[in-house]
Amino acid sequence: MAKLDFEVPLHQSHAMDDEEIRAYKKRILRLLKKHNASIVAHYYTDDAIQELAEESGGFVSDSLEMARFGARSDATTLIVAGVKFMGETAKILSPEKRILMPTLEATCSLDLGCPPESFKIFCESFSDHTVVVYANTSAEIKAMADWVVTSSIGLDVVEFLMGEGKPIIWAPDKFLGSYINQQTGANMRLWNGSCVVHEEFKANGLKAIKSIHPDAAVLVHPESPPGVIELADVVGSTTQIIRAAVDLPNKKFIVATDTGIFHKMRSLAPGKIFIEAPTGGNGATCRSCAHCPWMGMNTLVNLENTLLHGLNEINVPENTREKAMIPLQRMLDFQA
Ligand code: 13P
Ligand code: SF4
Repeated sequence: MAKLDFEVPLHQSHAMDDEEIRAYKKRILRLLKKHNASIVAHYYTDDAIQELAEESGGFVSDSLEMARFGARSDATTLIVAGVKFMGETAKILSPEKRILMPTLEATCSLDLGCPPESFKIFCESFSDHTVVVYANTSAEIKAMADWVVTSSIGLDVVEFLMGEGKPIIWAPDKFLGSYINQQTGANMRLWNGSCVVHEEFKANGLKAIKSIHPDAAVLVHPESPPGVIELADVVGSTTQIIRAAVDLPNKKFIVATDTGIFHKMRSLAPGKIFIEAPTGGNGATCRSCAHCPWMGMNTLVNLENTLLHGLNEINVPENTREKAMIPLQRMLDFQA
């Protein structure tokens, strides 16, 4: 399997004062109405984008619920504030809608690390396997799959597939794959991809912080390395770990996922204390700052521009879309 190398972009700073944010929001709200548009945002985007999505009747969630919201929305235009695979998923599920993104540069290391040509060869080598791919992949990869899953249902889908007795190809996240493999004992062949944000969490550092805060519950996204997952009280998708922060009796939480999630955690569980799980330290490339550099490319500035000029439209070739729709619809129908 070809090991891909790619550039992880630098973080861009887009600090605005409150007055500027209010002015942007006001103008964007007008444009949303004018274009019958709705914002669907991920929890890892900036606070101002998450607030605007909710204030305008849009939606902020994990990747599974973003897909569900997009498919049932009455809006004729969806602004997907997240990363490219989320925009493509929206287009695959709602070809009649116009799908715009604040920037087309926002991608994902898992998507980049699973090129269609090599994945096709991988699948052909194990043609008796059921192909399960994570939502963080391109439309072309989804078109080769039997199932698409997100972190919130990956484990349940694999358990369900074990009943069929067939071996499984899992791609692209090796850590999520090995976690599911270890939980289920399923016969799985894993692709060697990873998330540049989550792979930086460090088990040793986490142990050290746990010893300082023994009363804190540890919440971990399963794209993290196995040693970090082992220390978790709760392992789950972004929505699942936000729910745990609200439901658990603990007052303190150590959180191993993108720091964008703290906005929702603080608003739903005010008074609780959230501590960032340690990474390799603050590095220039953000391979180690616990914030996805691609999610961070979504700004109020490019969101307004997108709406004003109809920029950054997502299109998926019809042949690919039709094929990708089958495993995606399976995902939406599973535990709907
Ligand atoms: P969720 O499906 O848990 O929101 O995860 C998406 C993602 O990109 C995590 O890095
Ligand atoms: Fe991809 Fe990781 Fe960014 Fe999520 S946090 S979009 S998995 S690079």
